[in-house]
Amino acid sequence: MKTYKIAIVPGDGTGPEVIAEGMKSLDAAASRFGFKLDTTDFDFGGARYLKTGEVLPDTAISDLRGFDSIYLGAIGHPDVKPGILEKGILLRLRFELDQYINLRPVKLYPGVECPLKDKGPEHIDFVVVRENTEGLYAGAGGVLKKGTPDEVAIQESINTRKGVERCIRYAYEYCQRRNKRKELTLCGKTNVLTFAWDLWERTFNELAPEYSDVKTNYAHVDAITMWFVKNPEWFDVIVTDNMFGDIITDLGAMIQGGMGIAAGGNINPEGVSMFEPIGGSAPKYTGKNVINPLAAISAAGLMLEHLGENEAAAAIESAVIEMTSKHLKGLAAGKMGMGTSDVGDKVAGLVAG
Ligand code: IPM
Ligand code: MN
Repeated sequence: MKTYKIAIVPGDGTGPEVIAEGMKSLDAAASRFGFKLDTTDFDFGGARYLKTGEVLPDTAISDLRGFDSIYLGAIGHPDVKPGILEKGILLRLRFELDQYINLRPVKLYPGVECPLKDKGPEHIDFVVVRENTEGLYAGAGGVLKKGTPDEVAIQESINTRKGVERCIRYAYEYCQRRNKRKELTLCGKTNVLTFAWDLWERTFNELAPEYSDVKTNYAHVDAITMWFVKNPEWFDVIVTDNMFGDIITDLGAMIQGGMGIAAGGNINPEGVSMFEPIGGSAPKYTGKNVINPLAAISAAGLMLEHLGENEAAAAIESAVIEMTSKHLKGLAAGKMGMGTSDVGDKVAGLVAG
């Protein structure tokens, strides 16, 4: 029997609650589809940092390299200054494990209330491939004369040919594998950010002949936010840089029903990948049994798909669809018509078959 070694990082806030619910569906999928999960918990997060003063232990990265996948809840603590945990844990894991793709499906499931007038599941089904290791997130820049009237703050966007090319190649290949409309849209800002986006656009166009079955398109990032609202049905797969991807996928999450349902994968196709609900740690809902675990459960589904357990992944997605179409009143925290753990139990029951 196939065994997968999974590192569990529940993290902060509602992270542990939603991961616990996701584990129920993972266990149900494992027994139904005949594989084993060998899990190890890691306590990385705000609570550990406040107690020990250490954001990540030195051995964390090398330990995590020994796993098949990482299942992450949420990082972010109200008593820790913004940036410390985000950069010290989440971004550090993405960078050091070279998870150069952030894959974020935007799919409106039946029964989910969409804030867009006259749009339904037939209009909202696309995937954003966000570059996940470069751009403005690389941390290049610096400050001069801090706190004085002459202060200078520089934040540079790093775009390497290698980083851009591997991301765009992944997007073309993903678009082929997905095999829906086979249309890849590059989302950038070629009219203003003429250094970075010239590299992106040239690379995108140079690679296109290698994937001649994929239609190509381009949209400026500002325009794409407009199209997400007006014509989301235009999109199949979108590829973009780290910062733009961060921004447009929050909008994407809203049109698919909110943070309660949005999941993503930080993927290193040649290494260890990490799957997470994309909403934050939601401190105000912590411990109240009101947070929606469907995003974490969907992230577990993405993880199984990545591991090659396609049937199990499909069973999780069907169970989530059954929940949204038949059982849940809403997707927002406290508005589901049932508690966090009831949702987790019910999904796991459906996954078990
Ligand atoms: C996300 C988050 C992170 C990001 C933060 C928490 C660092 O917003 O996963 O989209 O900006 O990438
Ligand atoms: Mn974000």
